[in-house]
Amino acid sequence: MSGVILVTGGSRGIGAATCRLAAEAGYDVAVNYATNESAATAVADRCRAAGVRAMTHRCDVAVESDVIAMFDAVEANLGPVTVLVNNAGVLHQQMRFDEMTVDRWRAAIDVNVVGAFLCAREAVRRMSTRHGGAGGAVVNVSSAAAYIGSPDEYVDYAATKAAVDTMTIGLGKEVATEGIRVNAVRPGVVHTEIHASGGEPDRVARVAQGVPMRRGGQPDEVARTILWLASDAASYITATVVNCSGGR
Ligand SMILES: NC(=O)c1ccc[n+]([C@@H]2O[C@H](COP(=O)([O-])OP(=O)(O)OC[C@H]3O[C@@H](n4cnc5c(N)ncnc54)[C@H](OP(=O)(O)O)[C@@H]3O)[C@@H](O)[C@H]2O)c1
Repeated sequence: MSGVILVTGGSRGIGAATCRLAAEAGYDVAVNYATNESAATAVADRCRAAGVRAMTHRCDVAVESDVIAMFDAVEANLGPVTVLVNNAGVLHQQMRFDEMTVDRWRAAIDVNVVGAFLCAREAVRRMSTRHGGAGGAVVNVSSAAAYIGSPDEYVDYAATKAAVDTMTIGLGKEVATEGIRVNAVRPGVVHTEIHASGGEPDRVARVAQGVPMRRGGQPDEVARTILWLASDAASYITATVVNCSGGR
């Protein structure tokens, strides 16, 4: 596979696995991160070791001017983005909905919804044949939370992922004749550091008991699904959301 893949939140977890496997598949890789520069640098180094070009770029995906500058920087260094993986995401301390603050909701919506929308919009502006682009693929990272609702944990987070699902379906249809496929992956419970943000680093072990496969997923398993959707192997798939959740 060839092309330039931009992975938001590529420094850790599912994003880092996606960068690594994308490099092994032959993509040049742009690793976006928010604060963890050393983790992003390590991911880019691993990509280069696979024989492709790689760069890191710090950017808060919720900030419009930063997102535009990020696409410019990737284009200047690696060439036009051919695959966007909208992976950056946050969740907050587990709690009941009636305990949550407006500031918390806005923080989750800012990154998970506005951030994903901004990056997808920028990708479409540059990839769409309507705007003179060469086409491409967008893969959004949603969550099984979108259909489970995450009661007693983070209903707000779950709702942001439902918004990502709806954007995937609508945008996918909107640009279907413009050379762009837009799809999403809904991971179930996956072994990453995100669960510590909710106050339960070992959440995977608890939740896995309710997963039909009786285990959590590995970041590579989600990354492979993302890269399949991005690839020509999925050439007739768009506006589609794929569960990668062990049957949950
Ligand atoms: N793990 C799961 O069980 C699970 C399940 C379903 C869905 N997901 C979704 O999968 C995606 C990745 O999750 P993960 O578990 O791999 O998370 P993670 O290990 O916590 O990593 C989060 C990544 O997002 C980046 N990030 C956070 N806020 C950002 C911002 N404002 N701008 C740019 N980057 C930002 C982080 O950068 P820094 O390293 O710089 O902090 C990091 O690279 C998320 O969208 C998450 O909602 C995860």
